Amino acid sequence: MGQPSDLPGHREFTGRRAFTGQVAVVTGAAAGIGLATAHAFAARGAAVVCLDRDPAGLADVAAQLRQAGAEALTIEVDLADPAAITDAADRAADWRGRVDALAHVAGVNLYAHAADVTVADWDRVLNTNLRAPFLLTQALLPALLPARAAVVAVSSVAGTQGWPYLSAYSAAKGGLTVLMRSLAVEYGPQGLRCNVVCPGSVATRMATSGPPLPGADPSILKRGLGLTGRRARPDEVADAICFLASAEASFISGAVLPVDGGAFA
Ligand SMILES: NC(=O)c1ccc[n+]([C@@H]2O[C@H](COP(=O)([O-])OP(=O)(O)OC[C@H]3O[C@@H](n4cnc5c(N)ncnc54)[C@H](O)[C@@H]3O)[C@@H](O)[C@H]2O)c1
Repeated sequence: MGQPSDLPGHREFTGRRAFTGQVAVVTGAAAGIGLATAHAFAARGAAVVCLDRDPAGLADVAAQLRQAGAEALTIEVDLADPAAITDAADRAADWRGRVDALAHVAGVNLYAHAADVTVADWDRVLNTNLRAPFLLTQALLPALLPARAAVVAVSSVAGTQGWPYLSAYSAAKGGLTVLMRSLAVEYGPQGLRCNVVCPGSVATRMATSGPPLPGADPSILKRGLGLTGRRARPDEVADAICFLASAEASFISGAVLPVDGGAFA
């Protein structure tokens, strides 16, 4: 056994500027966890490609990132549209000719009794939360593989636990978790790492909006709070995403990391 520095791929500690010279693609970057993730990659030195369907939010995040001294490209895209995903992937890959990190953060929620979920609801949730991460990863593979890149998807505690009133959402998030593990196994031999974070309740528009569901048990909402009884801040999820995308997680792939304040410990 030699010194640690003799092992393949040994690197010096790069600390907070772990993504200097690299490109990170973040979906859902106009708000919430995606916005925090775009900032977190930029703070670590990455040039950031921000994807979202919200043009005003994209303009804001681009201004914020440039103000902070980072390079940013924004792409307005409806991730529920397969053709639009292909176009966005081409633009993202062409921007700097490389993609080192891909964070699938965009998502939509559906809080409804299972009996009331329509086919249109199901398709909207599954297409955005599950099909889009698959199609975007697929479209970016020609850029991801040469970079020996890392993919991180935001699933949910509702993707690993049974959860009432979230049937379509849970199905999509559970599928996303296993999708990432499948891609980790398929492309791991070529150097691609794929991991998942599973937040509990996060203080964003998604977690704090919407009327109460008639007939639902309101106490169920407390299940996603951490052991200290609070929601996560978006940056607490973003830090976990950046860790899994960084070289500091170089031997971690196919992992499913709870970011839930210990709620499901
Ligand atoms: N907030 C929570 O409590 C929580 C908990 C667990 C997991 N998550 C997951 O975290 C991710 C981010 O959620 P958030 O809380 O930041 O939500 P959010 O609503 O604040 O932000 C979601 C972003 O995704 C974008 N988006 C949605 N559908 C899109 C589409 N079809 N095309 C392009 N962009 C689209 C929105 O415009 C928005 O900017 C989601 O995948 C969500 O399921 C959230």
